[in-house]
Amino acid sequence: MKLQRLSLLNFKNIEECELLPTEGINCIVGSNGAGKTNVVDAVHYLSMSKSSLPMTDGQCLRHGAPFFMLQGDYTTDGEMGVTVNCSFKKGEGKSLKFCGKEYPRLADHIGVIPVVMVSPSDGALVVEAAEERRRWLNAFISQLDHSYLDATMRYNRLLAERNTLLKQGEMLPPELLEVIDEQLMELGERVAGVRREVLARLAPLVETIYTQIAGERESVELAYRSELNTSPYGEILVRNRQKDMIMGFTTAGPHRDDVVMTIGGYPLRKFGSQGQQKSFLLALKLAQYNLLHERLGERPLLLLDDLFDKLDEERLSRLVELTSGEEYGQVFITDCNRERLISVLKGCNLEFRLFSVEGGEVKTEEV
Ligand SMILES: Nc1ncnc2c1ncn2[C@@H]1O[C@H](COP(=O)(O)OP(=O)(O)OP(=O)(O)O)[C@@H](O)[C@H]1O
Ligand SMILES: [Mg+2]
Repeated sequence: MKLQRLSLLNFKNIEECELLPTEGINCIVGSNGAGKTNVVDAVHYLSMSKSSLPMTDGQCLRHGAPFFMLQGDYTTDGEMGVTVNCSFKKGEGKSLKFCGKEYPRLADHIGVIPVVMVSPSDGALVVEAAEERRRWLNAFISQLDHSYLDATMRYNRLLAERNTLLKQGEMLPPELLEVIDEQLMELGERVAGVRREVLARLAPLVETIYTQIAGERESVELAYRSELNTSPYGEILVRNRQKDMIMGFTTAGPHRDDVVMTIGGYPLRKFGSQGQQKSFLLALKLAQYNLLHERLGERPLLLLDDLFDKLDEERLSRLVELTSGEEYGQVFITDCNRERLISVLKGCNLEFRLFSVEGGEVKTEEV
């Protein structure tokens, strides 16, 4: 997938801008707070119908503006031209159109314009609680498999229902719980099954790409942790029924799963340096990229926000070289140090297009 033209109106600090990216590497430079992340976030928005940051649609509206509008014109890897429009108006909500046609459900759009974003906030994937990793996994698999998104939504609704029932404690008729468990079990198995399969495919990719970025220094591992790996969910639910009734919520299931990340056999969170954690996250995201490409038959857009954050020159050059290779398509890189970014790209003999952002104004630069 190649983004040929991006236009923004009233999106965060950008009043109006139009960008004509190249099909290869695009660099966006500017000082802190200039609006670089906002530009790549708009690209993310057009793919995922939401910001990559924990911001509501209303918060993405430029202060004081009544609406925002985003448009992306793309060509697919099969050379087809497509357009995505997204607009949000206070009081009216969001509308998303593909080639002029409104989607019945926003979720239908996920995966149509595949995207992978690497950003400094990914650190949360390593240091925060399991919920963060499940959120990432859900968003990622949703681009691959719409029925998965559907299953997780239904699972969550049913889980909430079950938890409400469990609050009744002793008063709860056991038949009612059995009816819910029957459905929950099926959905839970499906969710865990897809996660297991995807992570099993992702893990060796992460290991290989990590070595490509870090050199032969250290080895890393990625694994799926779930009680459902060892017992069927139906059995787990029965086993925990008494405990769940006492606690007043469902104590076990895919909603407690985790993705385990290790370096040299030890937890990455505790024993990985900041640069190693960043390299791991990059490997994870690039592995995700490869899997999306493999399954969708379309190269995702790759957004590398604040690329230089915590990486040494050596890893950086390896990464830039890697992402400019055959397997990758269009790339967007942001950095606040223009000279540094240009020197790394020129050092790798790579061609690129340069955009500068200042106070929400985007300009194309000659290099
Ligand atoms: N809804 C909004 N309306 C107006 N301005 C906004 C809105 N949301 C964010 N901003 C402004 O956007 C700017 C941040 O832009 P952005 O995060 O893109 O900066 P950046 O160039 O990536 O900076 P850094 O190098 O620090 O990452 C801030 O000045 C912030 O106040
Ligand atoms: Mg930024």
